Parts: sequence; C-alpha cells; structure tokens
Amino acid sequence: MLPVRWAVAADLPSVVALEEQIFPDPWCEAALADAIAGRNMLVAGKSGSPVRGYLVFSCVGPHLHLENLAVARSWRRRGLGRRLLESGLEVGRAAALVTATLEVQASNFGARALYTAAGFTATGRLPGYYRVNAAGLRADAIVYQRDLRLGPTPDSSQAQGDLKS
Ligand SMILES: CC(C)(COP(=O)(O)OP(=O)(O)OC[C@H]1O[C@@H](n2cnc3c(N)ncnc32)[C@H](O)[C@@H]1OP(=O)(O)O)[C@@H](O)C(=O)NCCC(=O)NCCS
Repeated sequence: MLPVRWAVAADLPSVVALEEQIFPDPWCEAALADAIAGRNMLVAGKSGSPVRGYLVFSCVGPHLHLENLAVARSWRRRGLGRRLLESGLEVGRAAALVTATLEVQASNFGARALYTAAGFTATGRLPGYYRVNAAGLRADAIVYQRDLRLGPTPDSSQAQGDLKS
C-alpha cells in the first residue's frame, strides 16, 4: 500500500505536474511550495518516487479547511483519496480542531460521494464560486462540514488515515 506522509520540498515538481494535469485552473507552483513549507500538505507515494495524490489544508481558528485534494487518474478508485482525506482529518483531531470544512464544485459527484462517505454533510451552496474557464463561465460550490470530535466513520479499516509522522 502506498504510504501517506507529509510532503517535503523534493515532492514539489511531482505535485505541480499532477496539479496541472488535473485542474483547468491549477494552483501556481509558489502556492504549492508554501503549502509544503508550512506543513499544510500530505502526499501519497513513496519517498523519492512520483507523488500519486495530495491533500492541502489550512487551520483557521478551530477549523480545518480542506483546500485541495487530487489523485492521479491512473490511481483513482483504489482508496487513495479516502486515505488522504482521513489522514487530514487525523491531523485536525491531533491539533484539537473542532470542524472540517471544504467547498466542492456542485457537478463533481465523485468527490461529493467521497466526502459523504467520510461523514461530511452539505451545509450550503455558493452560487458562481468557481471560475470554470477564461471566458468567465462560473459554477456553484457546495459547502461541506464535518464534526471532527465524532472520530472516524466506522465503515472500513482500510478507509482510515494512516499518516506516519
Ligand atoms: C475526487 C478524487 C480525489 C477521489 O480520489 P480516489 O482515490 O479515486 O477516491 P477513492 O478511491 O478513495 O474513493 C472513495 C469513495 O469515494 C467515492 N468516489 C470516488 N470517486 C468517485 C467517482 N468518480 N464516482 C462515484 N463515487 C466516487 C466512492 O464512494 C469511493 O468508494 P468506492 O470506490 O468503494 O465506490 C479523484 O477523483 C480526483 O482527484 N478527482 C479530480 C480532482 C477533484 O475533483 N478533487 C476534489 C476537489 S474538491
């Protein structure tokens, strides 16, 4: 099983490449480098090998905000997204944070299914939150929230986070 671990500077090129392959409006390299330097990124992949997935988060007061989650296309539906997500939630619990929040494009039904399976609840809709293309097309976001004090969702032991510090 691929390890989930804290991102290090050497992971940056691999994360930038994935980000640019996956998202039409990718984060810039400097923002991803900041996330690594600030210990705001977890990655899935062996040290020294290409990163197969990553999660970016921030801590704002008592809230863990999940900002970016991606898995390489050829590695999807093998539980990596869920493991990254659960590992991020464990980081929040270890820091005694109370809630986890995120926004996701309303049409992203795969990611929404993942968040629901991990115990998140949709709490609102943000009309036009995302810029979809350079022509100015916008898309709605759904806001999701999860109470971190509830602990992991009791479904599959494989779905739990397994972050090595
Ligand atoms: C969303 C994403 C991170 C999921 O990663 P993943 O590694 O494939 O997810 P997992 O294998 O851990 O899936 C766990 C569960 O989530 C749900 N799920 C994940 N992708 C799904 C899809 N495309 N369609 C339906 N359900 C899906 C399923 O319930 C799945 O369990 P199952 O495979 O046993 O049915 C990945 O598809 C991705 O990188 N997408 C592009 C970027 C993106 O949309 N990021 C989220 C932005 S908020």
